[in-house]
Amino acid sequence: MNIAIIGVGHVGLVTAACLAELGHRVVGLDNDADKIAVLRAGQTPFHEPELPELLAKVTGDGSLTFTNDLAEAVAAAEVVFVCVGTPPLPGGGPDLRFVERVGADVAEHATRELVLVEKSTVPANTGQRLVQVIAREQERRGGDAPAVHVASNPEFLREGAAVADTREPDRIVYGTSSEVALQRLREVYAPMVEAVGCPVVETDVPTAELIKHTSNAFLATRLSFINAVANVCERVGADVQTVAEGMGHDARIGPAFLNAGLGYGGSCFPKDVDAFLHLSRSVGYDFQLLDEVRSINAGQRQLVIDKLSNELWHLAGKTITLLGAAFKPGTDDLREAPAIYLAHQLLAEGAHVRIYDPVALDGVADEVPDAELVHDPLEACRDAHAAVITTEWPEIAGLDPRDLREALGYPIVIDGRNALDAKAAVDAGLHYHGIGRGTVPGSVA
Ligand SMILES: NC(=O)c1ccc[n+]([C@@H]2O[C@H](COP(=O)([O-])OP(=O)(O)OC[C@H]3O[C@@H](n4cnc5c(N)ncnc54)[C@H](O)[C@@H]3O)[C@@H](O)[C@H]2O)c1
Repeated sequence: MNIAIIGVGHVGLVTAACLAELGHRVVGLDNDADKIAVLRAGQTPFHEPELPELLAKVTGDGSLTFTNDLAEAVAAAEVVFVCVGTPPLPGGGPDLRFVERVGADVAEHATRELVLVEKSTVPANTGQRLVQVIAREQERRGGDAPAVHVASNPEFLREGAAVADTREPDRIVYGTSSEVALQRLREVYAPMVEAVGCPVVETDVPTAELIKHTSNAFLATRLSFINAVANVCERVGADVQTVAEGMGHDARIGPAFLNAGLGYGGSCFPKDVDAFLHLSRSVGYDFQLLDEVRSINAGQRQLVIDKLSNELWHLAGKTITLLGAAFKPGTDDLREAPAIYLAHQLLAEGAHVRIYDPVALDGVADEVPDAELVHDPLEACRDAHAAVITTEWPEIAGLDPRDLREALGYPIVIDGRNALDAKAAVDAGLHYHGIGRGTVPGSVA
């Protein structure tokens, strides 16, 4: 099929490359001219495993091309995927202006009947709005404007494993009330479904939209649940890792997303929990559970500051090393990264902040210009008053606690990701503070 992808960021670029790999002819468009120039020069604009190799393959054989010109992108398209950002607004809802803009632009430039697919994460009822935007644009164009059918096809990929997740999804969800859209989406995904055998959920637009928000809100709820449990563990002398393991063996619960730590971040969970809460309230249901999920998550970041203050009293003038900046391993994405939040908090308290990350330091220089950036984890710890593990990169989780003990000025480690072997850390002489690791002998809650 001829496919256009509007917005070639983390979702759009990976989607474009994977659909091209399936045998479709794909054109990727972005209104960021620099990004298109980088892509046309054969580079990858962000860190994502397997993506550079896949891009080289699908651009090399011509199945994926890039453009800045929306009319050109839409001209041949049978299916257009909207993959633009939906960033949070101060009131909690997402900013849907980019989605609206694309809806209007596509309707303006459509030269043949096409399907407009929301892949961006949007609240349930956005599809209705898109239908309205398209209808208004078609009315303006007059009677011969081609039909534009609306569908929702939410994306579930994880940054850091985005290519693997897109090639082999757990499930594919699409919703539409249009028979044309349904047939085309089946055709788009047929080779993937055949190869992977993943389940397909076919539904209406608002249900598909809601599946995305509920999935992320549920995962965030699991994380906040286990973080709340970790806080109890610290008070009763229990180990949350073992509690999670014991829970996870229950087939009804499962082991995923039960890692206690300094809380979730990234461009999706915080925004999507807020957006789902905002949507629920806007339709008359006060989903208070999600308020609590947010507040537990915020508390986990403060917990790290409290643990540091308990050890060091005043933080002003102390050197604190943050090991990891990206919101999780495998990506250089700093959006809503707990480490960036902590860096600003620590700087505000007058601390000197050092940051190490294997791939994200360029972005950190922009986000936290007052931090000292160090390209080696042990050098970053050299003579520091404390280190905080903020991202569980293998380069960080694999550090030998004895080397950390040797490098640090004061042997204090706050392990915000429970990444180190707590016993080995204590045996090495570290003042080791995990999250909810009450029973580790010698560790301090
Ligand atoms: N990042 C993830 O892990 C992930 C996973 C699932 C879903 N999502 C959702 O997918 C959407 C995109 O997320 P992302 O992380 O890829 O964002 P991103 O910021 O990496 O990419 C968005 C891209 O859209 C471009 N853009 C914005 N307005 C445009 C316009 N009018 N025309 C053309 N291009 C335009 C931007 O320049 C940018 O390159 C969001 O709704 C997000 O919630 C993200």
